[in-house]
Amino acid sequence: MGEQFVVAVSSDHAAFDLKQAIVAHLRTKLGDARVLDMGPADASRCDYPDQAGKVARAIQQGQARYGVLCCGTGIGISIAANKYKGIRAALCHDVTTARLCRQHNDAQILCLGARVTGETVALEALDVFLETPFEGGRHAGRVAKIHAAEGL
Ligand code: RB5
Repeated sequence: MGEQFVVAVSSDHAAFDLKQAIVAHLRTKLGDARVLDMGPADASRCDYPDQAGKVARAIQQGQARYGVLCCGTGIGISIAANKYKGIRAALCHDVTTARLCRQHNDAQILCLGARVTGETVALEALDVFLETPFEGGRHAGRVAKIHAAEGL
């Protein structure tokens, strides 16, 4: 992992503990300067579309290359993140899907469900997500078609 990318992380209240574990894991692995904790600061109720928007905009604006978004199931926050142009947010439940969403889909955001995926699997999936490059080739044309559907 020679490249100095930044990772933006957020969650709703349902996944606050997992988000905290992810931020701590990434800070140890990458250093504080490469981790953007976009909240929440505590487990008070908050809405996953708001948190998805913070990370999606950070990627759109170039503040971060990758993002991690967590809610109870990972479903709501992935749906919300994918409404932002150019954003490919992948809901993953295991290491295999975390690898494939990078290799085939060039996903920038890993979405996780704290109520369905344990912390150990979540952190392993995150490591694999960040270490796996996009394969390009035939997959690049498919990603371009997604962009075209968004008017990009
Ligand atoms: C919050 O209760 C819950 O609905 C949310 O975390 C998420 O699972 C939605 O998709």
